[in-house]
Amino acid sequence: MNHRMLSGITPSGSLTLGNYLGALKRFADAGHDTDGTFFVADLHALTIAHEPARLRRLTRETALLFLASGIDPDRSTAFVQSHVPEHVALAYLLECTAYVGELGRMVQFKEKGGRPRTRASLFTYPCLMAADILLYETDAVPVGGDQDQHVELARDLAVRFNRTYGETFVVPALSRPAIAARVADLADPTSKMDKSALEGASGVVRMLDSPDVVRRKVMRAVTDSDSEVSYDPHTKPGVSNLLEILASCGGVGSPAVLASRYDSYGALKQDVADAVIGALAPVQARYAALEAEPGHVDEVLAAGARRARERAAPVLDRARAAIGLSEPAS
Ligand code: AMP
Ligand code: TRP
Repeated sequence: MNHRMLSGITPSGSLTLGNYLGALKRFADAGHDTDGTFFVADLHALTIAHEPARLRRLTRETALLFLASGIDPDRSTAFVQSHVPEHVALAYLLECTAYVGELGRMVQFKEKGGRPRTRASLFTYPCLMAADILLYETDAVPVGGDQDQHVELARDLAVRFNRTYGETFVVPALSRPAIAARVADLADPTSKMDKSALEGASGVVRMLDSPDVVRRKVMRAVTDSDSEVSYDPHTKPGVSNLLEILASCGGVGSPAVLASRYDSYGALKQDVADAVIGALAPVQARYAALEAEPGHVDEVLAAGARRARERAAPVLDRARAAIGLSEPAS
């Protein structure tokens, strides 16, 4: 079945192996039989303290990594969020649909915000995310567990808007990844590998890390106190994470089956390092080729933004009309 799948990534750090295995690779694989919409959510990066030059650099880097990962701009729509002004315009209409009570219940806001100098946009951000989703009549939103609540809110806002002002939006579904690919931090296997970690964090493999750096990070990965290689995410989170990475990077068999082939952590780590380096190599090669052709990348992103606007504009117009706004005489 043809799904309309959409996802965004906030350019708040250099993308990690977790972003690749849990998101980009999946988008690229799905791209062949879905109508995919993938964007760099630069507006979302403005909700917490940021540095303009770094944001511009990471927006570009993230967009290049989308393309380098194999998202095909001819089949999918790939663009930078702020190049499509309909997102902000619809977000405002959804801020006029959402209640402060429900926004205040968002776990992410409670964790990161709620202080006098919290940016107002961090509070309203789920409305922008809902706009991202509803503008493209999306029916599948593959996100990590931390975003479930925001997708639920998008659904609630769509239903409320439709009920109050008439059928306007397609109500999206939450799409759960088939294999729960959650890559943990190599230095702290109980937390997720996070692109927003400090730049030099030793347990975070970045998609653009050189082979030497990848190998060093993997060889230093925290394992468990005994020396038996077995797969048990609860009692052996470090080794289990390495086995999952190996399985996702092309290892043959499930993590449990792979475990039976090793009798030392050292040999396992060597193979994980090789597998990660091998998985990232073609992406890094395509990245270098794209970087050498900045004009081509600009064109691809401009075409993506045009295509996105063509799809988003009629939905925004429908919402504007339904809520009671008028159009200027032409
Ligand atoms: P984030 O980096 O948290 O903004 O997430 C962007 C996308 O990458 C989402 O689809 C996440 O589910 C995915 N993602 C981020 N970190 C990981 C990770 N450590 N393991 C698996 N998927 C991840
Ligand atoms: N908020 C998401 C995150 O921080 C990124 C995002 C923005 C997104 N808009 C979206 C994800 C729409 C899915 C759909 O990870």
